[in-house]
Parts: sequence; structure tokens; C-alpha cells
Amino acid sequence: MSIPSTQTQYVVTSKEKGFEGLIKQEGPVPKPGANEVLVRLYGASLNYRDLIIPQGLYPFPIDLPVVAASDGAGEVVAVGEKVTKWKKGDKVTTLFNQFHQYGDIDQRAASSGLGGVFDGTLRQYGVFNEDGVVRTPSNLNHVEAATLVCAGVTSWNALYGLKTLKPGQFVLTQGTGGVSIFALQFAKAGGAKVIATTSSKEKCEMLKKLGADYVINYREDPNWGETARKLTPNNQGIDHIIEVGGAGTLGQSMKAIKYEGIISIIGFLGGAQPKESILDTLSKICTVRGVYVGSKQLMEEMCLAIEANNIKPVVDKRIFKFDEVKEAYEYMWAQKHFGKVGITIE
Ligand SMILES: NC(=O)c1ccc[n+]([C@@H]2O[C@H](COP(=O)([O-])OP(=O)(O)OC[C@H]3O[C@@H](n4cnc5c(N)ncnc54)[C@H](OP(=O)(O)O)[C@@H]3O)[C@@H](O)[C@H]2O)c1
Repeated sequence: MSIPSTQTQYVVTSKEKGFEGLIKQEGPVPKPGANEVLVRLYGASLNYRDLIIPQGLYPFPIDLPVVAASDGAGEVVAVGEKVTKWKKGDKVTTLFNQFHQYGDIDQRAASSGLGGVFDGTLRQYGVFNEDGVVRTPSNLNHVEAATLVCAGVTSWNALYGLKTLKPGQFVLTQGTGGVSIFALQFAKAGGAKVIATTSSKEKCEMLKKLGADYVINYREDPNWGETARKLTPNNQGIDHIIEVGGAGTLGQSMKAIKYEGIISIIGFLGGAQPKESILDTLSKICTVRGVYVGSKQLMEEMCLAIEANNIKPVVDKRIFKFDEVKEAYEYMWAQKHFGKVGITIE
């Protein structure tokens, strides 16, 4: 396969113009340095973060202009002379924070996000350090694999990054976004019981099909935290809560959590200023932990679990083509999606 000298890419050029600041343009195909690989990207997926970067709302470091998006998967087409890990033809998936290799995240690693600080995946060809990609699980296509990069690793980190989920424990997931659905799938594969919440009857059925043991409609039952607690043996409460609602959900999560349980703070879809006090962690005897995606080590462990259990990421029925990227942003912003929003890169 011959490698062209130019390619099509989507670049975030501004924090003030919203999606207008996302520009489709021609750019050079980069050449791999000694320790780098050139990847022909075939699949990408979007995260809420990608939508808020061009709107100036993202709380972590960014460095514009930058090629958009963190999630990508494809095939290695060239390797630098010192690369030992990969060869042409290997199928790889990108690592979100390129410098977060293992263990705790530090400031340098937190400032190495693809599509934020480093050029991301909405392009046909990308150069990455050989340690900035992982082997794609053999049971997934490129779009499915791309969905793992941010949402998948974040869920895995929540369940396995601090205190390992054990079979028989209870997990609570909120809503039907990418992170929550991965958490449901990983928790079921790990032998846990899952209580899922959603605002929609239709999505309730989908959650049950995916294995949720109980589903609570959080619009119909505003006291869903108590309800969830009552579903656990002796009203003990939930071991792991995947908290994506922020101010809209934290109070109920506090009602549902078990002594020594973990509330993983992942997002703030329902607002960023919760009324609850951090001192509630004392009366509830629980851990409230901020999660920022996860390391390459966690990602590789997750990929093994995905292969062993043949877990298929849930990708929205509408998959966008590469020249429909802006429509994909609008579609996700309008919350028309179920699961992950996928893009094929022709
Ligand atoms: N910390 C990290 O490293 C990290 C990584 C990935 C994502 N995130 C964040 O995590 C959040 C979720 O990401 P995602 O990609 O899963 O988002 P998403 O796909 O956009 O999730 C949307 C779904 O969340 C549910 N939802 C919306 N508002 C809610 C509320 N007030 N209470 C409960 N559920 C609500 C809805 O589910 P129903 O329609 O079923 O009600 C909605 O369909 C975002 O804030 C994102 O920025 C953080």
C-alpha cells in the first residue's frame, strides 16, 4: 500500500466558535520518528469531551489547533527504525493520555490527551509513539475498538483501578451513555449484579437485554438511590457507583452507597455544583474518587477481558462517514444516540 503525502483531517481551531471552529482541511501525512508508528486510522468515535472542547468548556489542558478526538483504531503501515513492539499490518487502538503508561496519573500524563494536547484521531493517518497504542482486541472491528479508548477505559478504571470489583458485588450505573453501558457490560462479565438507571422506557428494555438485573427510571422515581439500596441484601447498599450525573445524581448516590463502597466521579451531565458536602463520606463511610480515563496497563487488561468474554461495545445504529463528522457532533449534542457514536474513516 502506498502512503500518500497529504490527508484529510478535522482540526479544532478555536474555543469560542463551537462546532464552527472544527475545520475540515488537507494536512501532511506525518513521518514516523525512530520510536514511532504510522497508523492508517479506519475507525473513530466521539465523546462528550470532544463536543465541549470547541466550546471552551473542557476543564483539562488543551493546545489548539489540534486534530480532534481521542478515539481511533486502525492498522500500522510504517514503523520507525527503533520500534520493537509493532510491525506493518498490526491492528492497534489509540491510548487516550499518551504518557499514562501504568500506575497513578501525574500532571505530565494528564496533559497528554489525544485530540486535546496532541493531535487526535479524526484524520486518515496518525503518528504515535510505539507505547501510545495498544493491540486491538481480535473480536472487534475498527469502530468498535475506537470506542474503548475513553469511555471503555474510564469504566474499567472505575471498577478495577482502585478497589477491584468482586463477583456478587453490586454496581450501579447511571443513564445509557457510553461509559455507563461499558460499566454494565464489564460488571456482568465480572460476575456482579447491576442496577441501571435511565430516563426512558425504551432504553430500559435495552438495558435489560444487555444484562442489567434491575432498571430504575430516574425521572419516575426521584428517590432512586433509596430504591437501589433496597434491592441489595439487607439494604447494605451498592459497592461501586458509576457517577456521571454530578449535581443531578450525587445526593442519590450517597443514599445508595454501601459502607466502604466507591463512588467514581466521572462526569457532571446534571450540573457541576452538587449540594452534598464532602463530609457525607464520613457518615456514609465511603470513598468518592475522581477518575480521569486510565493507564495503558488498565487498557490492556480491559482488552484481554473483552476478548475472553467476547464483549461487543454498543455502537449507535447510525454510523457516520468521514465526511459527515459535523453531523456526528450535532447528533451526539442533540442526545439522539444510544451507546457510542461511531465514525468510519474512508
Ligand atoms: N472522567 C473521565 O475520564 C471521563 C471519561 C469519559 C466520559 N466522561 C464524562 O462522563 C459523562 C458521561 O459520558 P458518556 O460518554 O457516557 O456520555 P453520553 O454518552 O453523552 O451519556 C448520555 C446519557 O447520560 C444520561 N444522563 C444525562 N443526564 C443525566 C442526568 N442528569 N442523570 C443521569 N443520567 C443522565 C442519559 O441517559 P438516559 O437517556 O438513559 O437517561 C444520556 O443518554 C460525561 O460528562 C463525560 O464528559 C468522563
